[in-house]
Amino acid sequence: MKSQDVVWQTSELTQTYLTGIRGAIPLAQEQIDVMRRLVRAACPSVSSVLDLGCGDGILGQAILDEHTQAFGVFADFSAPMLEAARSRLDGYSRCRFIDLDYGKKAWLDGLPPDLSSFDVIVSGFSIHHQPDVRKKELYVEFYELLNPGGIFLNLEHVASHSPWLERRFEELFIDALFAYQQQIGSGMSRQQVDAEFYSRPDKAANILSPVEEQCDWLREIGFNHVDCYLKIFELALFGGVKLAE
Ligand SMILES: C[S@@+](CC[C@H](N)C(=O)[O-])C[C@H]1O[C@@H](n2cnc3c(N)ncnc32)[C@H](O)[C@@H]1O
Repeated sequence: MKSQDVVWQTSELTQTYLTGIRGAIPLAQEQIDVMRRLVRAACPSVSSVLDLGCGDGILGQAILDEHTQAFGVFADFSAPMLEAARSRLDGYSRCRFIDLDYGKKAWLDGLPPDLSSFDVIVSGFSIHHQPDVRKKELYVEFYELLNPGGIFLNLEHVASHSPWLERRFEELFIDALFAYQQQIGSGMSRQQVDAEFYSRPDKAANILSPVEEQCDWLREIGFNHVDCYLKIFELALFGGVKLAE
């Protein structure tokens, strides 16, 4: 069976996400601020960053802007998303853009041979398309890819603990989407935003897991300072540090 996450390879979903959804994500600036703060503390001098499921590269760029000597690897399996990342990072010389599917173990062979370990690995709203078994395997792979002292940060869509809480997340997100549509003057009604939210093509590809469970996996793997650093309903920033030996 074809996995549902391939919807991300279409230009249509790429455009919808980049122009109509990314700018509406609640606490987006705070998520990036906390991410940068954690990176700064774990690794004051970053030399390499991997942004996995990079989309247009918003997260990796935020790290590169602060660590101007660092090299960035931006990886995604969507050609239109990689094109958007190239365009966003136009003028950044220390970047590489790689088309790979991290759902398959062979993704590791797709990394540049001269850049196969990293100080920072970030991922945004992407890994939740993988089954839990693969999520755990990926976290092990990240641990192995990190340099001692390096940090992994996952800004992720996670599971609610009850349908009641799930509804609260949906209300929040639809309010944020509607406010964003008004801000950009799209003319979309609340009902249209609501209908699009519930029929969005990537919804079927979601395999959400509770953040606490995912933090436990990271601790079992050996990550330190594991926590959920920021959370608003189903949007969580979590991760951990690989301590220097
Ligand atoms: C919701 S977008 C998030 C983009 C960006 N990280 C952000 O924070 O805005 C999810 C991204 O993950 C990518 N993606 C999903 N599954 C993937 C896979 N198995 N391998 C590589 N990229 C994947 C999609 O193509 C898409 O660009």
